[in-house]
Amino acid sequence: MAASPPRPQVAGPAIRIDSHLDGGQERSLADDVLDGLTRPFKELPPKHFYDARGAELFDRICELPEYYPTRAERAILEHCSPALAEITGAAELVELGSGTAAKTRVLLDALDAAGTLRRYVPFDVTETMVRESARELTSEYPGLRVHGVIGDFERHLDRVPAAEGPRIVAFLGGTIGNFPPGSRRRFLRQIARLLGAEDFLLMGTDLVKDPRVLEAAYDDSQGVTAEFNRNVLHVLNRELDADFDPEDFDHVALFDREHEWIEMRLRARRELTGTVRDLGLDVHFDAGEELRTEISAKFTPERLDGDLAAAGLEVAHWMTDPEDLFALTLSRRTDL
Ligand code: SAH
Ligand code: AVI
Repeated sequence: MAASPPRPQVAGPAIRIDSHLDGGQERSLADDVLDGLTRPFKELPPKHFYDARGAELFDRICELPEYYPTRAERAILEHCSPALAEITGAAELVELGSGTAAKTRVLLDALDAAGTLRRYVPFDVTETMVRESARELTSEYPGLRVHGVIGDFERHLDRVPAAEGPRIVAFLGGTIGNFPPGSRRRFLRQIARLLGAEDFLLMGTDLVKDPRVLEAAYDDSQGVTAEFNRNVLHVLNRELDADFDPEDFDHVALFDREHEWIEMRLRARRELTGTVRDLGLDVHFDAGEELRTEISAKFTPERLDGDLAAAGLEVAHWMTDPEDLFALTLSRRTDL
């Protein structure tokens, strides 16, 4: 068997973790609650789902029979990772919203086998995820350095360490779909700034399909997604001393055909007033009133091309699963 080429040796510890939250996340939750729960149409950004319990519930969602995106994206990665390693020659993988990095291992295996991989940079708002994946991956890939970043990728993207060689910035799972259209383009523009002439963005996007398939993926028969949705109220209760009873709210998931996105909402089962004590805020819900907690946009190739072009990026390779459920794209900057 041919031995893989030796990995370049770099001095220094295998793990470095930078945290940029330091209470800032709680402030951002407070500001988002003040904005979002005083609007005529109540809304909270989805990043607040992901405390330790929310992250665990998301992992369970990924195993559900109805939630196809994780399986489809994994299948694409299994098929395409050796070619991705060859095309990119990447020395480092930066991953935004890395979570447990479960699928990432498929790509890391291919980069490792190609002998080019030196550093992995997981970036996530959930501290435990970054710390655990750093520990696990440095033991699974001897010689790999992990520079973890705990932060909010909407505020701290400039804290991604400078590139040490050709890099892939991965943004998997379809998380780009959780941004509304204008913010999505703004965020892609910020990601483009992390890329040099030799670098690539590897992004997962869920594709438009039969609304019944989409709605089932966000309203599973075991009720795990409903619990994930309600978890944001547990976060408010704990972090801001609020007194919402999550069981006062129904989980709603529907496909908005005009915008081609899934909306998750929490619908009050009765008229109620919750108090957010840390903010001195009373929040009134009429019976049936809804709080939007997430959008999850579904893409056509045209929409994706348009969003990437608006950020100065273009697709070099387009990859899908055999059923065309999900797409993985490898993009480059057009201006370098
Ligand atoms: N990439 C993984 C996880 C997707 S879930 C997968 O494909 O399965 C979305 C991940 O993004 C979660 O781990 C969540 O903690 C993280 N996340 C969500 N909003 C974030 C933000 N604003 N900044 C940083 N991480 C965020
Ligand atoms: C992380 N993100 C891409 C998931 C999605 O599908 O929009 C979050 C999720 N929400 C409900 N189920 C999964």
